[in-house]
Amino acid sequence: MNNFIIAPSILAADFARLGEEVDNVLEAGADMIHFDVMDNHYVPNLTIGPMVCKALRKHGVTADIDVHLMVKPVDRMIGEFIEAGASSITFHPEASEHIDRSLQMIKDGGCRAGLVFNPATPLHHLKYVMDKIDMVLLMSVNPGFGGQSFIPGTLDKLREVRSMIDESGRNIRLEVDGGVSEKNIAEIAQAGADTFVAGSAIFGKDDYKKVIDLMRTELAS
Ligand code: DX5
Ligand code: ZN
Repeated sequence: MNNFIIAPSILAADFARLGEEVDNVLEAGADMIHFDVMDNHYVPNLTIGPMVCKALRKHGVTADIDVHLMVKPVDRMIGEFIEAGASSITFHPEASEHIDRSLQMIKDGGCRAGLVFNPATPLHHLKYVMDKIDMVLLMSVNPGFGGQSFIPGTLDKLREVRSMIDESGRNIRLEVDGGVSEKNIAEIAQAGADTFVAGSAIFGKDDYKKVIDLMRTELAS
């Protein structure tokens, strides 16, 4: 597999200098920006919303912005993020009353759509919406916080989703989020992931380019 995407999570960036942080990480070779939206309801933390996404677009960010909604309810935020310039929007199926409708809203807004599965959330929704999704996001930590350790059971789940995607014959990306670093990225790719979210592993370092280059070297190994 090739065509890997590295998506730094700005949850770990310095929010007081967010525009500059995003510019720097893109210049360092990141492919896409992962944007974590938490509501202190679906998850026990509170982060950023559509205004910040819009501000990044106004700042001049043209790279894809991958919005990960950890909010309940989901639908109102979909419209707002489409308007704010999101490129892709993913949500947790258990946070939406009408999963198919939420996915359709995202597609109708011209964004790529996907479902997110927590470490212990079963995958059964997937088979009914395979024709509608552009990505599957597997959480490798319980959502809500950066800097947690990768849950090893995710590797088997990645293999499971990879075969579902391959069987579907559709062009669906398989993204993994939580505890990803240059140390485990090769193993995660071997299990079938092609898109890697990393927060603290990138923004926690002084030299973003060095760590992104290291990740690419690991992916090529
Ligand atoms: C967790 C978020 C992740 C988080 C990843 O709820 O969805 O995107 O920022 O952070 P790290 O890479 O530090 O585990
Ligand atoms: Zn995320």
